Amino acid sequence: MKSYIIEGGKKIEGNVRVSGSKNAALPILAATILCPDSNKLYNIPKISDTENTLEILKILGCKIKQNHGKIYVNSRNINTKEIPSELMSKMRSTVILAGAILGRFKEVIFSYPGGCDIGARPIDIHINAFKKLGIEIKEENGYVRCKADKIIGTDINLDFPSVGATENIILATVLADGKTTINNAAMEPEIIDMVKFLRKMGAKIFGEGTNQISIIGVKHLSGTSYNIMPDRIEAGTLLCAAAATGGKIVLSNSNSEHMGAIINKLDECGCQVSCSADKISLSAPKKLKHIEIKTMIYPGFPTDLQQVFTSMMTKSSGTSIIVENIFENRYKFISELRKMGAKIVVEGRTAIVTGKRKLQSAEMICTDLRGGAALVIAAMTAKGISKISNIEYILRGYENFDKKLSSLGAKIRIEDI
Ligand code: EPZ
Repeated sequence: MKSYIIEGGKKIEGNVRVSGSKNAALPILAATILCPDSNKLYNIPKISDTENTLEILKILGCKIKQNHGKIYVNSRNINTKEIPSELMSKMRSTVILAGAILGRFKEVIFSYPGGCDIGARPIDIHINAFKKLGIEIKEENGYVRCKADKIIGTDINLDFPSVGATENIILATVLADGKTTINNAAMEPEIIDMVKFLRKMGAKIFGEGTNQISIIGVKHLSGTSYNIMPDRIEAGTLLCAAAATGGKIVLSNSNSEHMGAIINKLDECGCQVSCSADKISLSAPKKLKHIEIKTMIYPGFPTDLQQVFTSMMTKSSGTSIIVENIFENRYKFISELRKMGAKIVVEGRTAIVTGKRKLQSAEMICTDLRGGAALVIAAMTAKGISKISNIEYILRGYENFDKKLSSLGAKIRIEDI
């Protein structure tokens, strides 16, 4: 099991390049299944979620070549429509592989997805959409078997603007008969990135980034190349590392257009933030101001940065109020933060964070990907040496996290026992 050993009290200062977006790379890797040709992808982050997805693509019969951040995927010879359950259970995003396999072969078998324990994370919205598309669904013994002679485009109204369900419907209908319209679609930038890739392959999709997306089925797609967008959640995490430790940082390969709500909250905390081209600069104030945060669908404040901000607010000048509106169980990490002396009261979806806390080092256990990053930030602000175990969660979503933080002045290393 791997752990981080972190000596707190160091300021985060310097320049760092943001990696490609995990949540864009995963649907784009899934989308390569749709095209019996070779695709070349740049800026795919080297993290366990992308490694696992590439492993699944190989098991499905895809030919994969990787060198220096370039990934070639040739999906011509896919020879099975069943996603291996042992890999399905490792992460949530595998469910969008199902949409891609369905889109090309009109048949798929998969087990219920795994992923971080931040809520029930059902897939009812995905399944209901597949049924609307004329796909026959059999759910038995933990497996979902989908089959259709043809996928017929139709209007689909989502109960909730689910990111994964929006991606899945697009993947399942780019090669369908006729037009599909998704109403109440998710608007996240990662969906726009996937659509741009699909359009380069020849897909006919309109309205991405709005709450109504239309897909007109085409007969086939052809191979292309694509450069994955920067990871806005990693960018926000690194900005908070500097803000929480009283430092200053310059991010490169970042896109501030995707980060309005995040930058607004950093500004409210008293940070000096400036953006130009692909750079975002932040200087921390002497004392962070307390704030209120409500997580929302995009372009509202992203749930994926709630935990990092909650952790940072233990340093602020007063009491902060955090409301988590997207996932029902995204405060598990707080019990670990309390081991460092954090004073946080959780009432349902609301966390009340007392500021001015001088956190002490502690031994903690990661509970999930973004909660783990929140523990790292807390440990960097605490006096003494902390140990965070189960960091396999963090390695799922942050590329070279310890190396990047070390290059910015943090005292952090991996212990593997
Ligand atoms: C994507 O997850 C992201 N993951 C998540 O990032 C992100 O937090 C989430 O979108 C919201 O922005 C990837 O892109 C791989 P949802 P997804 O479907 O698609 C409920 C990270 O840390 N729901 O928009 O799973 C669900 O339970 C991860 O990088 C249903 O009820 O999110 C949740 O409460 C964590 N039924 C809410 O909707 C469904 O069929 C949002 O889920 C689907 C979702």
